[in-house]
Amino acid sequence: MKSVNWGSSGQKVPAIAVGCMRMSRVPFEQVTELVDTAIERGVNFFDHADIYGKGECEEIFARAVKECRRKREDVFIQSKCGIVPGRMYDFSKEHIVESVNGSLKRLKTDYLDALLLHRPDALCEPEEVAAAFDELERSGKVRYFGVSNHTPMQIELLKKYVKQPVMANQMQFGAAHASMIRSGMEANMMSDGAVNRDGGIMDYCRVHDITMQAWSPFQYGMFEGVFLGSDKFRALNDKIHEIAEKYGVTDTVIAVAWILRHPADMQVLSGTMTLSRFEDILKALDIRLTREEWYAVYLAAGNILP
Ligand SMILES: NC(=O)c1ccc[n+]([C@@H]2O[C@H](COP(=O)([O-])OP(=O)(O)OC[C@H]3O[C@@H](n4cnc5c(N)ncnc54)[C@H](OP(=O)(O)O)[C@@H]3O)[C@@H](O)[C@H]2O)c1
Repeated sequence: MKSVNWGSSGQKVPAIAVGCMRMSRVPFEQVTELVDTAIERGVNFFDHADIYGKGECEEIFARAVKECRRKREDVFIQSKCGIVPGRMYDFSKEHIVESVNGSLKRLKTDYLDALLLHRPDALCEPEEVAAAFDELERSGKVRYFGVSNHTPMQIELLKKYVKQPVMANQMQFGAAHASMIRSGMEANMMSDGAVNRDGGIMDYCRVHDITMQAWSPFQYGMFEGVFLGSDKFRALNDKIHEIAEKYGVTDTVIAVAWILRHPADMQVLSGTMTLSRFEDILKALDIRLTREEWYAVYLAAGNILP
């Protein structure tokens, strides 16, 4: 299994991880089969959040791990906290600790391998986050910490108080959602792509040894749909298909290979609950796109190169 660095820890994690957000939407047997196959194939990293399926996804996952007779050490469990529907965002110590306790209960475990702050809280008081992380680390409830959808300055603000290293930052990324790259490529130009929407987070993560996790790799917009096969992305689909034919794989494989080819060494969070599609996605690990192919996909997605 191709692996990527786990932040600054010196450890490795699989380059593809299973996103568990959609686990409550399919039959239990389907989840069990997917979890079992993933672990069998070395994809033992599972991404959760306290809110996925209103907590149901964590429960279903725990049942699936038990059903396929896997041990706690067989899996790397990451969960996220900080989104509270109705209240919106909450990075208070009280909420972070309470959220982890809830996740541990649902996951039927006494520790999380990683905890990420799900989305920036405008009312974030980093001292509160630091106190929560200290308590969770001291009690052995969380091994590693990280963030999601955060900008460089938001991470810097946390770092002023938080002593644990930020291991990961989860950001939406894929061939149809590549503004993190575009703003750098069009630097100092008057084009729309030059707008820096993320504060240069990709380079920041590379500089600071923070693992980038690419969420929703097949979606465009905020869950508007899958770009593969969509008429809205005809040129992109044609180019991906042309490259897929060359390698004798599906378009799905090339969409993932495109992310893996980037030297930021991102971890792809695969969200499919369909076993055949998941197994297909793993084929991307054996493909290294050429520079020409990578840039051709980038251009076909409607981006420009100066
Ligand atoms: N940090 C954040 O803010 C955030 C936000 C969203 C998600 N996430 C994480 O990222 C993970 C992945 O997100 P996602 O589920 O939106 O990702 P995704 O892998 O882009 O999307 C998977 C969905 O697309 C469908 N799909 C249809 N055609 C497909 C094709 N050709 N290839 C692949 N999938 C296709 C899948 O259906 P089938 O199941 O039928 O294959 C599934 O419903 C989540 O589980 C979660 O862990 C994080």
